[in-house]
Amino acid sequence: MARFDDAELNADPRGSTQPRSGSGIAIPGQEGNTIEVPATRSAISDAASFMHNLSLAPSMKDRRNSRNSFGTSLPIPRSPRMSRLSSVQRGSGAPSVSRDILASQVQDINKEKTAKAKNMAFAFDIDGVLAHGNHAIEEAKVALKILNGDNELGIRIPHILLTNGGGKTEEARCAQLSEILEQPISTDQFIQSHTPMQALSEYYETVLVLGGDGFKIREVAENYGFKDVVHPKDLLAWDPTISPWATLTEEEKAEARPRDFTKTKFDAIMVFADSRDYQTDMQLIMDLLLADDGKIFTKAEDPVATRIPIYFSQGDLLMPTEHKGLPRLTQGAFRISIEAQYKTLTGVDLERVVYGKPERATYTYADEVMKSWMEELHGVARLPDNIYMVGDNPASDIIGGNMYGWNTCLVRTGVFQGGENDLNSPANFGVFPHVLEAVKAALAKELGEDFKLKWNPKVNPVTHGDGASAIE
Ligand code: G3P
Ligand code: MG
Repeated sequence: MARFDDAELNADPRGSTQPRSGSGIAIPGQEGNTIEVPATRSAISDAASFMHNLSLAPSMKDRRNSRNSFGTSLPIPRSPRMSRLSSVQRGSGAPSVSRDILASQVQDINKEKTAKAKNMAFAFDIDGVLAHGNHAIEEAKVALKILNGDNELGIRIPHILLTNGGGKTEEARCAQLSEILEQPISTDQFIQSHTPMQALSEYYETVLVLGGDGFKIREVAENYGFKDVVHPKDLLAWDPTISPWATLTEEEKAEARPRDFTKTKFDAIMVFADSRDYQTDMQLIMDLLLADDGKIFTKAEDPVATRIPIYFSQGDLLMPTEHKGLPRLTQGAFRISIEAQYKTLTGVDLERVVYGKPERATYTYADEVMKSWMEELHGVARLPDNIYMVGDNPASDIIGGNMYGWNTCLVRTGVFQGGENDLNSPANFGVFPHVLEAVKAALAKELGEDFKLKWNPKVNPVTHGDGASAIE
């Protein structure tokens, strides 16, 4: 299967396994639980192209670039099996044992078709493909039902969910998705934008974590193993003047963990989801980026030299929502604003790391999840030859899938609102009105046009082998 060629990635050769010297940050060695994947996205701010020339002070123009080398690699967990998240009981939601026995008899007889079915898998985007916000897309329910065994072989066809969304724990999101999609979704087949970032907990002790509703993101970070997780509301509860117009409810005050933050040295900033309070979050990020080595409310003589790293969980500019008009702005817009503020204040581009689709590290991690999900469903931990990515955003789902050698299907239920295909990042398998049509087309290609999208419980495996039709 085609994969990224490192030579094409413009990856900094310092990136993959060499410890970064001079950063003052403990980097796990080869024996650690992480793999460092060279970044495919530039480590340098995108803001310049969006900025008016006047916003860059002439006196700043000659300042050197940051000495930090963050962005040269993106650590991901070495294996999902070692993940702290793999807590859901294996096999939950699977068909009953008696039905499994009958299905395996049918599969034994239809060996050729079964082998093909075991050599394919899907990677689904969520927002704009399976759901809009908290509402399932109806066709997605049918598509997942087919893949969970409602087909002539009664076979489960592996599918993982690969979303740039986030902001709550994998368990919470899977429970919500299982409910609205009426199909079981396990954390073992699920990747949010920040899921691979759990690897970073081996690198950083004290982190400012931002985004999402309430304090949910703290639970996410603590599940990932971060030891000292600071939330913007902790800082607000300690000193309400840090953000001129922010207020905390009594409940928030009770849940916040204020302390004397003048004694805290932050090691990194992590934006895990969309900000719910741009003013406070931007202010705190800027405070930390301009501080002396992560000591908040200090002012570095040379902020570029002592700046702590900043990570964003994904780079999408737009996302589909329940809103009927144009797609809504998301984390990419927040990041570009941070980059522009930093460049205006310091005159240099902000170095930062962005995870999520279409970043290679996210797809590398997806491979690992896919392999272990294959093992769960088919007993062999290997990648199938035919992987179909179904997405609605050409700039993340499709470009990433194309680069990674997957078959890509673009659907019309989300961000993409174009004509025949996207002009910049065309889907290589085709454009479909919705996910069900994409799944049907992929199954027809791999298993034949006559492959039945219905499990017949009255099937007689002895009399109904390859080519025979089941008794209704
Ligand atoms: O970009 C924000 C997020 O909602 C996108 O999610 O599932 O379309 O990757 P998804
Ligand atoms: Mg989407």
